[in-house]
Amino acid sequence: MPIILNEIDAAAWAELEQAVSEPESAFRYLTFCSVDEQGKPQARTIVLRRADKLMRVMEFHTDTRSLKWQEIAANPHVTVLGYCAQMRLQLRLQGKVEPYDAESDVAQATWSRLPAHTQKTYAGGPPGGARACDDIKAISAAEEAEGKANFGVLIVRASSLDWYQLHKEQNQRAFFTYDNSGALVDSQWVNP
Ligand SMILES: Cc1cc2nc3c(=O)[nH]c(=O)nc-3n(C[C@H](O)[C@H](O)[C@H](O)COP(=O)(O)O)c2cc1C
Repeated sequence: MPIILNEIDAAAWAELEQAVSEPESAFRYLTFCSVDEQGKPQARTIVLRRADKLMRVMEFHTDTRSLKWQEIAANPHVTVLGYCAQMRLQLRLQGKVEPYDAESDVAQATWSRLPAHTQKTYAGGPPGGARACDDIKAISAAEEAEGKANFGVLIVRASSLDWYQLHKEQNQRAFFTYDNSGALVDSQWVNP
């Protein structure tokens, strides 16, 4: 395996790890794509909460009443997509997602570390549920406590990374494959 490909892979995951603590990083806001029950692709922006380059995992937080939660319960195969204009770099990661609901130790430990303003976002009606446009009211302490029951953690275990960088002369693209333990098992340059 040529060293440069290993370095590209390592740098891509380092970018993801750094993005978690850098609100300005383009890779902090990723597009999370799942497939719904009709086989239609679904995509939405979601905040990257943790990345681990050794295990090849990415962590996201969501409301377990959301459509995405139902979609991944039926089909755990997902794509996570990001583009950084500054680096002219696209990262397209495919893998399987493991959902952890509010009852799980993972979600409970994560919830206890969330700031109060973030916990608040899980209170109130279900995501996508209809509401009157004048129904913007403060969330009560009782509702706030209920938010914990709606909190879920999504852990995506990447099986591949499609790396694509725009260049004036010639665009570059490489494809990386990982095994279940996160080890890099294959890497190759591909036509852009
Ligand atoms: C910048 C931005 C960040 C977002 N971050 C999250 C997030 O971390 N988790 C989440 O569930 N939804 C997040 N959302 C909302 C989702 O994009 C989406 O609208 C919502 O989760 C409902 O998606 P669904 O109906 O496909 O499940 C974010 C939206 C924006 C615009």
